[in-house]
Amino acid sequence: MVFLCKSLELENGTCKSFFINNKSFLISNVNNEFFAIEDICTHDGEKLSGGRLLGNDISCPRHGALFDVKSGKVKSLPALYDVKSYKVINKDGDLFIAIEG
Ligand code: FES
Repeated sequence: MVFLCKSLELENGTCKSFFINNKSFLISNVNNEFFAIEDICTHDGEKLSGGRLLGNDISCPRHGALFDVKSGKVKSLPALYDVKSYKVINKDGDLFIAIEG
């Protein structure tokens, strides 16, 4: 488990990229629930954190593929493959991602 930030630092409807162990993770707040996916588009490697979060969906800033930030499922072309998703643990207002530290 790796500490990310305080939950108050990530407002509802926003997302932020975190670089941990040479990998980027996109952490999103959707209605004050927190979700993590890999911050890399499966179409051509763009960082999803430069895109727009609308509801559950993040749009890739390069060609517009949509991914569900709750599950990592791809929702529109041109991406064909899901991104990996990870569990976020909210422990008394401290957010952790469930990966090896
Ligand atoms: S790199 Fe993300 S849609 Fe092309």
